[in-house]
Amino acid sequence: MFNDLSYIMRLKKIEIELEVYRFDELNDLDKALVNEAKAATERSYAPYSKFHVGAAVRLANGVVLQGSNQENAAYPSGLCAERVTMFYANSQYPDVAPVALAIATQTEGSFLAQPITPCGGCRQVLLETEERFRRPIEVLLYGTEYVYKVKQVRDLMPLAFDKESLV
Ligand code: THU
Repeated sequence: MFNDLSYIMRLKKIEIELEVYRFDELNDLDKALVNEAKAATERSYAPYSKFHVGAAVRLANGVVLQGSNQENAAYPSGLCAERVTMFYANSQYPDVAPVALAIATQTEGSFLAQPITPCGGCRQVLLETEERFRRPIEVLLYGTEYVYKVKQVRDLMPLAFDKESLV
């Protein structure tokens, strides 16, 4: 039985740090990036889910790039906003570290009250980028009621499989 502690040799708890803000409490740089992600939702192609996700990434050289989810009638062929944006950034600037990523979502013409968090596949890709450039990527998840801020992708992905696992 899973609730029988006699089967557990040792319990390890993993904590992550998550900051919660109202939008107007964010610093100016973060506000600007969230606004870029909000604008990017307008260019989402989501006729199937009608879930319009926008993302914006800020690079170490100050460049900001946007992306959005792009769906397809063959559903798995589509791609989330986070991966569209990060792959775009890495293909345009393969030598410049991304330092922050913001995400926002609109459904039926309104932004969601609570932030959505990246799917597992996107976390895996974002983590690889963070490790590739050896620099934390701050993640801002926008909701009209509150915004989550995570200092690094690693915090979204405890016990991750990464290149170190490939020994
Ligand atoms: N989606 C994203 O773009 N980002 C997320 O973090 C979660 C989900 C997209 C994928 C699909 O186009 C739609 O939202 C519904 O899952």
